[in-house]
Amino acid sequence: MGGIHVMDHPLLRHKIDYIRRKEVGTKEFREIIEEISMLMCYEATRELKLEDVEIETPICTMQGKELAGRKLAVVPILRAGLGMVEGILHMIPAAKIGHIGLYRDPETLEPVEYYCKLPADCDKREVFVVDPMLATGGSSAAAITMLKEKGVKNIRFLCVIAAPEGVEKMKKEHPDVDIYIGVLDEKLNEHGYIVPGLGDAGDRIFGTK
Ligand code: URA
Repeated sequence: MGGIHVMDHPLLRHKIDYIRRKEVGTKEFREIIEEISMLMCYEATRELKLEDVEIETPICTMQGKELAGRKLAVVPILRAGLGMVEGILHMIPAAKIGHIGLYRDPETLEPVEYYCKLPADCDKREVFVVDPMLATGGSSAAAITMLKEKGVKNIRFLCVIAAPEGVEKMKKEHPDVDIYIGVLDEKLNEHGYIVPGLGDAGDRIFGTK
């Protein structure tokens, strides 16, 4: 059974609230999103299993620990999710990376897949889906459905800022998925932006607009 984990850490909160400021430029925004992702990854990997391993230090032989079991994959939702990948790779350098791209159909307003490339063995991996902003939850929920259709069973979702509306949608559609949230904001506005939020995360990471 999944759960909602709103991270309550002063360093994370400081960094998130810092990059909300409209005067923060692309370079700094990108660097700090990377740091935030690193901290979030640390928290989201808390439950990973360890196994015993014998190691030799320069002094003696000892029973040490290493990560056991399934390997990991990171799947950013394009395009803003890309901004979180480097930070996670600093913590888990051997992770494979998949990509999922979705756009919103202007008629139905439903998310439609335009790109999906995943590691061949992703069904055997623990998959971390990343997107900085969980707004309506439409694309995040659809991306997770796509992964489940490909046989992925172990999914965690990481977002920097979430709106209550998105959290509700994810809870309803994917109650089995653990969701890690940096900060839970107040609401969505009429344009689908998170309030107070930080604006368009993709534009701020890539310096577009
Ligand atoms: N996506 C963003 O980048 N920002 C929002 O506020 C909502 C969705």
